[in-house]
Amino acid sequence: MTTKLDKLSKELSVGQVAKRCGVAVSTIHFYETKGLISSWRNNGNQRRYTRDVLRRVSIIKVAQQLGVSLSDIGEALGKLPKQRTPTAADWNKLSKQWKAGLNSRITRLEQLRDDLDGCIGCGCLSMKVCPLWNPDDEVASKGDGAYFLDDD
Ligand code: FES
Repeated sequence: MTTKLDKLSKELSVGQVAKRCGVAVSTIHFYETKGLISSWRNNGNQRRYTRDVLRRVSIIKVAQQLGVSLSDIGEALGKLPKQRTPTAADWNKLSKQWKAGLNSRITRLEQLRDDLDGCIGCGCLSMKVCPLWNPDDEVASKGDGAYFLDDD
């Protein structure tokens, strides 16, 4: 239960942040170990967060749903002023930045879906002819030997 004192406090405990953001406490700790959010220790050696962390966690969650990697999220958040709640303008910049990547992944997934339509039940999984395993024979341009197709 959120008390009136909780609402007025400028400092939040990890439990309060987790509850307000609808995530597990372990998720908050995880984001912190990845450098996406930060806290400090109070006199009782308990973690405390400024209120801007609430919007930062929201941004992280949405970005993850968009398929943005944690390292890209961290890079983007690192460009925002510290200790300031991200604004709508900040979100606008971030979302534009991530939209191109999302569109690229959608295009790639649509291509995979179309290729899959043609091979249901085929099972060839051939490096020479399978458009799913080796689209456009990408591996041929890399020469002999084993190559990992997903370079993203
Ligand atoms: S598995 Fe069907 S085309 Fe490769």
